[in-house]
Amino acid sequence: MKSAGVLRRVSEHMAVKAHDEAVIILENKKINEKYFKLTFRSKKLAQGVKPGHFLMMQIGDLNDPFLRRPFSYYRASADRIEVLYEILGYGTSLLSEKKKGETLQVMGPLGNPFSAVVPQAQSQKKSSSRKKRVLVAGGVGVPPLVFFSEKNKSDYLLIGTKSKQEVMPKKELAKVKAKVLFSTDDGSYGVKGRVTLLLEDVIEKEGAENIFIQTCGPMPMMNAVMALAKKYEIPGEASLDKTMGCGVGVCLGCMVKTHEGWVPSCTEGPVFSFDDIVEAGV
Ligand SMILES: Cc1cc2nc3c(=O)[nH]c(=O)nc-3n(C[C@H](O)[C@H](O)[C@H](O)COP(=O)(O)OP(=O)(O)OC[C@H]3O[C@@H](n4cnc5c(N)ncnc54)[C@H](O)[C@@H]3O)c2cc1C
Ligand code: FES
Repeated sequence: MKSAGVLRRVSEHMAVKAHDEAVIILENKKINEKYFKLTFRSKKLAQGVKPGHFLMMQIGDLNDPFLRRPFSYYRASADRIEVLYEILGYGTSLLSEKKKGETLQVMGPLGNPFSAVVPQAQSQKKSSSRKKRVLVAGGVGVPPLVFFSEKNKSDYLLIGTKSKQEVMPKKELAKVKAKVLFSTDDGSYGVKGRVTLLLEDVIEKEGAENIFIQTCGPMPMMNAVMALAKKYEIPGEASLDKTMGCGVGVCLGCMVKTHEGWVPSCTEGPVFSFDDIVEAGV
């Protein structure tokens, strides 16, 4: 394992101090067939947060489940934090039963966020044309990229879901500063098929040389996005969805193979440049 700080990504971001705090739930409600939204207040956990940062949440009491679970920040203001989550197993199921007024032990902000600035090629720095930012999201990758596109002007936000029932309510997307396009596996909303179909359309329309991709979602989706990026030589970043045990580089449960060797995703990522990744995992 390489020591922290070997990757280009890390040096671009100022380290933000993480805090571990018991927070009181303000709201925990189902917003559609797929997502629940959890809201709590904390000045410390909101300090310095950027889209792509994540937090580690102790969900149960008496250490059951024993390991904390990682979640992206969905929104963070001065002292108010939102997390958007879907039920995937024991921990998230337990979380969905939490009520207003109950407490959760939460540590954050952790990891490295998405780049706010789109890197430009030398030739583009001089010319008036700028690379367009294309965000590609699915599943648990939708929250950080919606947060990102509320904070940073983007050109496209492409969202892939299984069906219309899982599409984010319009209200949740009202502050997104990007053209939002949807794909659904069953064709019940937007384009029928995978989100990579939308990406291929954008590549064709804008030209591969004019695009910068930032992606977050299920690993098969991100692997497909990165395969397209490789084919068309498009630069970008992926927030890797690795299973995490500690979130602070201790358990080595979230290792990613990079050109600098194996590194923990929780401290060196979760956002990696496509160029840095050798194997993202499945
Ligand atoms: C950096 C990061 C940010 C994340 N942000 C969010 C978020 O904003 N919203 C959200 O809903 N989820 C997010 N996740 C995923 C979330 O951590 C998992 O869904 C959660 O840990 C599952 O816990 P569980 O106890 O419910 O499931 P478990 O009982 O632990 O597992 C049940 C099922 O979920 C799968 N699973 C476990 N961990 C993950 C994972 N990391 N990704 C995908 N599937 C998993 C398992 O393979 C298994 O099939 C994020 C993960 C990472 C690494
Ligand atoms: S989650 Fe423990 S090292 Fe990354």
